[in-house]
Amino acid sequence: MSDQVPPSGTSQEQRSRGAFTSRKVFILAAIGSAVGLGNIWRFPYVAYENGGGAFVIPYLVALLVAGLPFLLLDYGIGHRYRGSAPLSFRRLGGATAETLGWWQVGICAVIAIYYAVIIAWAVRYTFFSIDQSWGSAPDDFFFGEFLQTADPGIGLDFVGGVLWPLLLVWVAVIAIMVAGVQKGIGATSVVFIPLLVVAFLALVVQSLFLPGAAAGLDALFTPSWGALTDAGVWAAAFGQIFFSLSVGFGIMITYASYVGRKTDMTGSGMVVGLANSSFELLAGIGVFAALGFMAQANGVAVDEVATSGLGLAFIAFPAIISEAPAGAVIGVLFFGSLVVAGITSLVSVIEVVISAVRDKLDLGRATASLVVGVPAAVVSVLLFATTTGVPILDTADHFINRFGILLVAVVSMLAVTWVYRDLDHLRDHLNRTGSLRLGSWWLVLVGVVTPAALVYVLIDELRAVLAEPYGGYPTWLINSIGWGSAVLVVVVALVLARLPWRRTVDLSAPPEEVSR
Ligand code: ALA
Repeated sequence: MSDQVPPSGTSQEQRSRGAFTSRKVFILAAIGSAVGLGNIWRFPYVAYENGGGAFVIPYLVALLVAGLPFLLLDYGIGHRYRGSAPLSFRRLGGATAETLGWWQVGICAVIAIYYAVIIAWAVRYTFFSIDQSWGSAPDDFFFGEFLQTADPGIGLDFVGGVLWPLLLVWVAVIAIMVAGVQKGIGATSVVFIPLLVVAFLALVVQSLFLPGAAAGLDALFTPSWGALTDAGVWAAAFGQIFFSLSVGFGIMITYASYVGRKTDMTGSGMVVGLANSSFELLAGIGVFAALGFMAQANGVAVDEVATSGLGLAFIAFPAIISEAPAGAVIGVLFFGSLVVAGITSLVSVIEVVISAVRDKLDLGRATASLVVGVPAAVVSVLLFATTTGVPILDTADHFINRFGILLVAVVSMLAVTWVYRDLDHLRDHLNRTGSLRLGSWWLVLVGVVTPAALVYVLIDELRAVLAEPYGGYPTWLINSIGWGSAVLVVVVALVLARLPWRRTVDLSAPPEEVSR
């Protein structure tokens, strides 16, 4: 299926790959990708667990020295080489570089498979909020009645209550992908992002008026300065920024390849980065105001209600909804926001895989969407609509973030800078049309400072997971799902990069555009 006619001046190749029709649509799609479960579900508890108010410092450092500079690197690669991650890297540095692209594609495939499940849970919880189906024990309800979790083991019995919303999510996502870059991804973002902003603002305002809200904000923003000397806190900040901004795993390369050649990419990057972090902060405020209310209602400290991880959204929030005035409204806004934010991110994650398969095999959009979407949905259903669920999801999420996203980020930065020596060229490319001029500072950040910081946090993270099994899970689970998925994506990347391209695909770099 073809996309809407792209802006004039784009090549035949662009017309067949699809394109965003304007800078505004691209920015909304990029914000849609960035603002996701990472902002609403993950940021509040990561910030809280890692020093509260003091986390803001490593977070801002990670944003400024690593997140935004790397966002621009991704934009530069996609916009200059005009392809999916593997095709862009292939054009940048040849067959070996292509491996980096496939590594990113593999990471996205893993993320998509579990990301869809959290959205499916949120779909159910949007409805559960109306009559507070969890009763007086949200914890037992979530793991027991709803997920029917088999304690970490493999249980292949289907859980109907997860199966149907999961299928619904995949059908919706595949339909969006078949509709194309502009009519699918672009149109969804144009509708969903304003909706999300309105729903989330309403939620935050309502939370701020709950009695006890101030105590929650105190808990979030009271700095624990000791946290700043803890390398794990810095690792958490870098991990959060990369996941949240959608940088380092192919998404922004892919989206940038769909943008008109004369578009201001550096200015767009600043808008996207600012919007993402504002949303993140807003989510922290909204969630902790609600936790403050909960703590006050139960006469306990905020840290007793601020459970981490999955528990925050699916256990602590239901408890709040049960007790708060107009709780059903809070519930529908909160879980509805998770669904909306999650869908616009999931389409960007799966688009990385679809566009790569499309480019390599020269397939049409509908075929590629089905070739990728259907198997992804099947694996997602087999792993997560069964009683196996939660421990696998938690382990995969942790390892693929650290030893997938952060690792591929550092390797690709070093490769682009020091092996392929393309950084100067990418800077010139971005500066040709960008409103924010990148100076030598950008080269130093991307080529030296950020990789050094990432190597440091990765070594520390490695030490931590070797000293103590992540989440207290059994070794077989850590080895098979955690290390297994991180290693598998590299092996698959090495194989795929060696497979031939369809002869119709032009592997040479497109001509550089004239300045604006
Ligand atoms: N950037 C997306 C998120 O924050 C993946 O969830």
